[in-house]
This record gives sequence, C-alpha cells and structure tokens, in this order.
Amino acid sequence: MKKSAAEEALELIQPGCLLGVGTGSTVKFFIEALAGVKSHIDAVVSSSDASTELLEQAGFTVSNLNEVGTLDLYVDGADEATKHLHLIKGGGGALTREKILAEASRRFVCIIDESKLVGLLGKFPMPVEVIPMARSFVSRQMVKSRGQPVWRQDFVTDNGNQVIDVYNLKIMSPPEMESRFNQIPGVVTVGIFANRPADTLYIASRASVRRMDR
Ligand code: A5P
Repeated sequence: MKKSAAEEALELIQPGCLLGVGTGSTVKFFIEALAGVKSHIDAVVSSSDASTELLEQAGFTVSNLNEVGTLDLYVDGADEATKHLHLIKGGGGALTREKILAEASRRFVCIIDESKLVGLLGKFPMPVEVIPMARSFVSRQMVKSRGQPVWRQDFVTDNGNQVIDVYNLKIMSPPEMESRFNQIPGVVTVGIFANRPADTLYIASRASVRRMDR
C-alpha cells in the first residue's frame, strides 16, 4: 500500500520541478520511483540524512534549501492524518526539517496507507524535538496538558537534539495545540502539522489509491 501511494504521487512532478523529499518507509518507495521521472527534476532537497543517503544512492545530487529557495512540491509520509489534512509526523524523528520543507513548499503532499487516516489525532504519540537541556522542563509542561511524555532514549536527531513522544493527548484543535506547544522554551518542533496542513493526501488501500485535496 505504501508503494502504491508513493507511485501515485509521481503524477504531480512536472518538468523543472524543485522537489522536497521527506523521510520514512513510504518515502523510501517514493525515492525508488523517482528514477523514472529524473529528467523532470531540476533540484531536490532532503529532510534527513537518511533520505539524503537514499537519494544519492539513486543518483541524485541533493541541494541545500538555502540555494534552492521556494520548492514546488514536498512529498512525505505521515504517522496520522485527518480529513482536514492535519497530521502527526516525526515517528522517524525528522520532524524539524520536515516542517521546514513543508512550509517552504507551494504544495505539500502526503502519501499514506489507510491505517494512518484517523478521526482525531493523538492515538499515535506526538513527537516533540527539544533542546537537550530543556527535556525535563518541556516534559513537565506536557504533563500539565494531560499528556504522558516518554523520552526517546538513545536517539539523537540530525540537528543534535532529543525527542519526547507524548502519549494520550486529546488533540481537539490541532492548530491551537501546535501553536501553544511551539511557545514552550526549549521546544524546537512539535509533531503536529496543522497550521501548515497538507494540500493533498494520497491514501492507499489494498484495492486502490484515493486522493484528497484541501
Ligand atoms: C519521519 O520523521 C516521519 O514524519 C515520517 O514521515 C512518518 O513517520 C511516516 O513514516 P512511514 O512512512 O515509515 O510510516
């Protein structure tokens, strides 16, 4: 299913495309499929060291976002998505660079299998990237919001920071919660992607791939 969703998203790549590439097992299929449309891609920017390595293995030269400017298209997976195209991301820990690329793109496309589509975000623990010295402080703030924070031990982000996974949050208003948590000192990035939601979702089931646009 992940492969079908990834292959379907190729239809959005037009000649001259400035492309952002996400991170994760679904995106791995997308990178594999990109070989077929390589001549359409003028520049590619990556959201993680892991994806950079995969892109280079596939024969792409990965550019720096500072050199490329606004991207035409950013394609990534998600851990949860709603019909409002709000997301939880960061299961792979790449949320900060993913959020930067999503914001820096004209179009943000998410490729998921149908198990990721939910009524309400929050069953998947919400990742938060934090400055290491603020980990306990940020965790206490999460408890005040009735979340249960768990430090993702033995994991360091590509930016040298740590990740807290927050369980059992009731995310009734994703944009409000994203903005509120963003204000906590020491938070680098919150894994709720709602103030800049996806523009398009490709949702794969066993039988087909459905597209949802905002
Ligand atoms: C990476 O940090 C995440 O945001 C991924 O996009 C997300 O975890 C989806 O990953 P899979 O495609 O592996 O399910």
